[in-house]
Amino acid sequence: MADLSINFAGISSPNPFWVASGPPANSAYQAHRAFEAGWGGVVWKTIGEPIVNVASRYSALNVGQAQIVGFNNIELITDRSPETNFREIAEVKKRWPNHAVIASLMVDTREQWHEYVKRSADSGADGIELNYGCPHGMCERGMGSAVGQQPKVLEEITGWVMEVATIPVIVKLTPNITDVTAPARAARRAGADAISLINTINSITNVNLDTLVPEPYVAGQSTHGGYCGPAVKPIAMNMVQSCAADPDVGLPISGIGGIGTWRDAAEFIALGSTSLQVCTAIMHRGFRIVEDMIEGLNDYLDSKGFETIYDLSGKSVASVQNWNTLDLHYQRVARIDYEKCIGCNLCYIACEDGAHQCIDLISPDERHGIGPGRLPGKPVPQVREEDCVGCNLCSLVCPVEDCINMTPISNGKEPLTWKQYEERLAKGEMASIPPHP
Ligand SMILES: Cc1cc2nc3c(=O)[nH]c(=O)nc-3n(C[C@H](O)[C@H](O)[C@H](O)COP(=O)(O)O)c2cc1C
Ligand code: SF4
Ligand code: SF4
Repeated sequence: MADLSINFAGISSPNPFWVASGPPANSAYQAHRAFEAGWGGVVWKTIGEPIVNVASRYSALNVGQAQIVGFNNIELITDRSPETNFREIAEVKKRWPNHAVIASLMVDTREQWHEYVKRSADSGADGIELNYGCPHGMCERGMGSAVGQQPKVLEEITGWVMEVATIPVIVKLTPNITDVTAPARAARRAGADAISLINTINSITNVNLDTLVPEPYVAGQSTHGGYCGPAVKPIAMNMVQSCAADPDVGLPISGIGGIGTWRDAAEFIALGSTSLQVCTAIMHRGFRIVEDMIEGLNDYLDSKGFETIYDLSGKSVASVQNWNTLDLHYQRVARIDYEKCIGCNLCYIACEDGAHQCIDLISPDERHGIGPGRLPGKPVPQVREEDCVGCNLCSLVCPVEDCINMTPISNGKEPLTWKQYEERLAKGEMASIPPHP
């Protein structure tokens, strides 16, 4: 069995799974329940000057039968007093000395930052997370994403924190920015110990077509919210990889955004995270999801022969490169496994209308071994390999697992990247890019 324990920038945790700052991390009661269920850490709901929230606060993107594919909120930081929050952090730390408890903070002035950082350390918290990410409400008051979007401001405020910090400091980044590595580098320059990303993405999830007001609404009015949940995972992973690949960032990464299964966790780790944070999936399904996440990650690490999280962490980072380093001569074609094909012909429609018109429908008599469930007499798809550009679309729409395989084929050509092509063109070694085979 693999060792799931981590030391994240000096913060020890029995496993990499932390409850992210948000509604599930709002109280000692919840932290106890989270740790009992198996979570390794809790990042407390952001503490600051108590705010007033509105009703209602959440909305969701449902896709077909799938509920909460994306989640949107217009909630602010904690509405509980700092005294209550810090007292409860102390209580939790006392009962769970080996688990990670991190105080998330968002305040305004230098004096306030100094005060809250000191109070966090005094409460026994293992670390501090600086919330520079909230994209609604707090940014209008000059905090949250208003800080995270301006590397210079982020650097200055993080510098204030580092003046008095005695425990590790994690800077939580906003995704509402063109290049997330700019604030990540600023965090490094300011002396932060780690970064976490992503916070929520600006969003409007849906408009109520009766009232014509977007959800969630407050007395007939709405506002831009923060988007999270499974739908944001690709955006979050892109940003995590960008930071992990940047030598000027070079900080431990806590990955956040759409994590809900051990697979999500493993992917975030492979892209450079060492700790992981989860909010929406807990709000949707409760703390117990961590049991499957721990078991699944453990089994996966064992199956790959990895003994610790660190054996997997960052393994996929280098395989993401600039487009101009991809081999233009590499070729794959779609091949249908006729033992599995059910003859739904979704691949045919997709290629015909949305791709390169290289799947033909042929008489079923010309093909044997069509899979179970196929309607008798229905035409059968057949890929014209010489015209297939290997785009993947048919294999993505095919409802049968492993029925369409994207198979590499040899075309006898030497590898050639766009970068090499440009270099050879400049040297006069090549006249023009050869057409796609
Ligand atoms: C209702 C709600 C409240 C949140 N409140 C906070 C907060 O107080 N501080 C913070 O740093 N992030 C907050 N977040 C953002 C989450 O910590 C997390 O960064 C984001 O939801 C992405 O993770 P997920 O896809 O697992 O939800 C909140 C998210 C939600 C859904
Ligand atoms: S989508 Fe898949 S199952 Fe359907 S016809 Fe094409 S190959 Fe067969
Ligand atoms: S890979 Fe693309 S081009 Fe090739 S058959 Fe499938 S949809 Fe058509």
